[in-house]
Amino acid sequence: MGEHAQKRLIRKIDLERFLATVAPQPNPQVHLEQYTVAEQIAANMLFIAAYANDDVVGKSVLDLGCGTGRLALGASFVGAKEVVGIDIDRSAIQTASENKKKTGLSNVQWVLGDISTVAGCFDTVLQNPPFGVQTREADRAFLVKALEVGKSVYSLHSHPQVDVRLIKQLKASQGYLQVQASPFLERFIAQHGGSVKAVYAMVMTIPKMFDFHTKPKHDFVIDMYLIKRNEP
Ligand SMILES: C[S@@+](CC[C@H](N)C(=O)[O-])C[C@H]1O[C@@H](n2cnc3c(N)ncnc32)[C@H](O)[C@@H]1O
Repeated sequence: MGEHAQKRLIRKIDLERFLATVAPQPNPQVHLEQYTVAEQIAANMLFIAAYANDDVVGKSVLDLGCGTGRLALGASFVGAKEVVGIDIDRSAIQTASENKKKTGLSNVQWVLGDISTVAGCFDTVLQNPPFGVQTREADRAFLVKALEVGKSVYSLHSHPQVDVRLIKQLKASQGYLQVQASPFLERFIAQHGGSVKAVYAMVMTIPKMFDFHTKPKHDFVIDMYLIKRNEP
């Protein structure tokens, strides 16, 4: 079991507080779409993975495109057995290492490299891939790799359309709502050996980070896909 070996439930508020101490990307690069996942979104993802699906406590977890390590460190905090985070960006991995030192969690390893180099078998993959705003379909390589090396995959994707009513509903509930999968992603996932089990919409608010952002902060809906690899 992980260093926390949690059989007891962690309160969501405590998980959010922990995640807020994990520093975000200091100099985000546009082409890598380095948006740090908001702590509420990361907490929802970890809660659903750990407590609704038993995919974190005592499990091996991979964070593809880990950035500064929020999802990886969160998984360790909740009680993962071992965690690996990989990112192509040196400064992200440097910040992830500093974040790990601050938390005192020792069962998390960082790898500097491209996700294509990952091999092996993990119980669970957590990922917040580039959505493909800068490089079209950048999230597809992440899905393919996740299904190659992971049995359960929790993956964030942009919601197919701007839906102001859904944003309002989600903000009022401060949580998530189950929505339909995008037919395109569902087909793509099926072609790569996986099945979409559920999709949860959540609101992500990001502050102005890049010159092309016109507002001081921006709300958008992201969908968390819960995917299981089909066993032969
Ligand atoms: C949207 S950010 C998410 C960061 C972090 N997981 C989080 O949620 O806060 C996507 C991350 O993927 C990394 N990335 C993009 N392409 C990659 C690749 N081919 N291999 C490894 N990492 C990559 C970026 O450097 C960036 O840190």
